[in-house]
Amino acid sequence: MSTTVTEIQEIAAQTNESFTIRDLVDFSGRTYGDWRDEFHRNGCVVIKNVISPDRAKYYCDKQIEWLKNFDLGFDEKDESTWTAEHLPVSFKGGYKPRHRMYYAYAATHEKIAWEARTEPAVVKIFEDLWETKELLCSFDGMNISLPRRKDLNWSPWPHCDQNPDRKGMQAVQGLLNFAPNGPKDGGLMLMKGSAKLFDEFFAQKRDQYDHEDAPPPELKYMDLFLFHDRDLEWFKERGCEMIKVNMEPGDFVLWDSRTMHYACLPEGDQIRHVQYICMTPRRFATPRALELKKFCFENFIGTTHWPHCNIRPAAEKPMRDGQVCPKDRAEPFEKPVITEQVLKLAGVKEY
Ligand SMILES: [Fe+2]
Repeated sequence: MSTTVTEIQEIAAQTNESFTIRDLVDFSGRTYGDWRDEFHRNGCVVIKNVISPDRAKYYCDKQIEWLKNFDLGFDEKDESTWTAEHLPVSFKGGYKPRHRMYYAYAATHEKIAWEARTEPAVVKIFEDLWETKELLCSFDGMNISLPRRKDLNWSPWPHCDQNPDRKGMQAVQGLLNFAPNGPKDGGLMLMKGSAKLFDEFFAQKRDQYDHEDAPPPELKYMDLFLFHDRDLEWFKERGCEMIKVNMEPGDFVLWDSRTMHYACLPEGDQIRHVQYICMTPRRFATPRALELKKFCFENFIGTTHWPHCNIRPAAEKPMRDGQVCPKDRAEPFEKPVITEQVLKLAGVKEY
C-alpha cells in the first residue's frame, strides 16, 4: 500500500464536499405502476422474491462458513459458542454498535458480498429506481445476528444516514435478506414516511442523542444523525409509523437514506442473515470520490452506505480486549471474481 490508511482517511476527511440541497433526481409527478410508486410515497418499500429461496440459502450457508473460517470455535449448532470470543469482531469504523455488522477482515469484499451486489435482480432494482444503468455500489457490510446472545446489552438507536445539511433524496439504502425474518427475529425498524419530513424536522436546530454506542466524534461520520426519543414522537405526531420490516428469504428492502431507522435484536431462534447493498448513479460522484473508491476497492476496504460520496475508508482494526484481533486480515477468505460489472460498480472502470 503506497498511501497508508490513516493518510487516506485524513485526505477523505479534508475533501470538503459541499452539500447538495435538493433531490438529485426530480421524481415528482411520475408514476410507474410498480414498487417505485410505494417507494416514492413512503420513502421505503419491500420488494419480494428478488432472489430464489435456494439462492438465499446459499448465502446463509456461506455466511456461516465465513464465521467458521476464523477458527475461533464457533459452531452454529452449539449455542454455547455464540459469544464474542468465538466470533470475529463486528463493528463499524472502530466503535461497536450492538448490531452485528461486519466491516473488518475485508468482509465487505468477500466473494459472497460481491455476488449479492451483482445479483441481476438486485442491480435491476437500482437501475429502475434511478433510471440509469450507470451505477456505483457501496462497499457495505454483512450482518449475521445470532439470537439469545448472553454477552450483549442492547438498546435501540434510531438514526438516519444522511447529514441534516444535505437536503432532498440523495441516496438510498438497501438490504438483501437471506433467512426467514419475522416479528421476533429482530431486524430492520423503519419510521415509515420520515424521509419526506426530513427537511421540515431539520429546519430548526436539532441536537443529536448521545447514545453509548455512538461513534466517537473524532471518527467524523459525515452522514449520521442520532435521534432522541422525543424526536420519534415528533414524527409519529405527523403521521409516521415505526414498523418492523418482516421479510422472507430472498426479499429486498429499500429505503431513502433520510428515513429514521435502527436494527432490533433477534429474540426468536432464527439467525439473521443480511447483506447491505446501496447503489447510486455514477454521475453523482466527483473524480476525487472515484479515486477514493478505487483505493478502497483495491485494498479490500469497506465504505459508508454512500456509493458516490462520503467515501470514508472503514479501515479501523478490529479490536479484541484492547489489542488488534489476531485474526485480523487484509484480504477476503474468498476473493471476488473480478468482472467488467464489478469494476464498473466499484467505480474503477468507466461505463
Ligand atoms: Fe443506518
